[in-house]
Amino acid sequence: MKLDELLHFLAEERNFDLRGYKPTTLERRIRKRMGQLSLGDFGSYVEHIRANPGETNQLLDTILINVTEFFRDPEAWEIVANDILPPLLKRLRTGHSFRAWVAGCSTGEEVYSLAMLVAEFFGSRLSDFDIKIYATDVDEHALNIARRGEYAPERLRRVRPEWRGKYFSNASQPRVNRELRRLLIFGRSDLAQDAPISHVQLMVCRNVLIYFDSITQMRILGRLHYALDPGGILFLGKAESKARGAGTGDIFARCQ
Ligand SMILES: C[S@@+](CC[C@H](N)C(=O)[O-])C[C@H]1O[C@@H](n2cnc3c(N)ncnc32)[C@H](O)[C@@H]1O
Repeated sequence: MKLDELLHFLAEERNFDLRGYKPTTLERRIRKRMGQLSLGDFGSYVEHIRANPGETNQLLDTILINVTEFFRDPEAWEIVANDILPPLLKRLRTGHSFRAWVAGCSTGEEVYSLAMLVAEFFGSRLSDFDIKIYATDVDEHALNIARRGEYAPERLRRVRPEWRGKYFSNASQPRVNRELRRLLIFGRSDLAQDAPISHVQLMVCRNVLIYFDSITQMRILGRLHYALDPGGILFLGKAESKARGAGTGDIFARCQ
């Protein structure tokens, strides 16, 4: 059996379509998992998956790398705080809505970073506005951690000390407080397959497109542009900005 056939099986029978992912990386990761099971060919691996329904999740854990952190790439987040959010938020009148979408949110650190900046901008006026920050990922396990919003204290190293007390409860097992959590809407969504959310003013998609082949990257970028309202901002990772054809480091784009 070839890799293509294994991917066809996963898409058709396990409802997980990995066909837009870069084949070399994908094959390396699948073989890594097969090695752990001492299986040498894709045919025996398919048999193993049929006999062990939980194996698909094990495979996904090997393929979907969930590495993330609060304020990952701090200089970029400084730009979000100082130059991107203020013009988007200051034009809102009481009761108006602001919609952002963080796609590939993993275990939540990135989207809570954004929520802290929005909360800081509005201060005590936060509840005067209809803020909705959608956070999606294809990985249900990561999403469950994100929904809970509880992190080991060392994960908060990039969060300003004064914000740790303000936005987290319980210093020994910090949990994002309710004020911040209520701004967020988590959901499973496959960027390569599912319809995008629409009418967002800020779209964050970082360190996700790198998984996909160039055709799928272009298709996803089309969806991200569709999601944005005119004047909305796309915030990419460094690797994503290369896929857009922009220079490395050109991680912000305004939708015309
Ligand atoms: C390396 S993490 C990046 C997390 C975060 N955006 C950051 O930059 O810190 C990549 C995330 O993309 C998610 N992902 C991979 N394929 C996806 C897909 N098809 N649709 C949505 N999310 C996907 C993975 O599950 C993982 O949580």
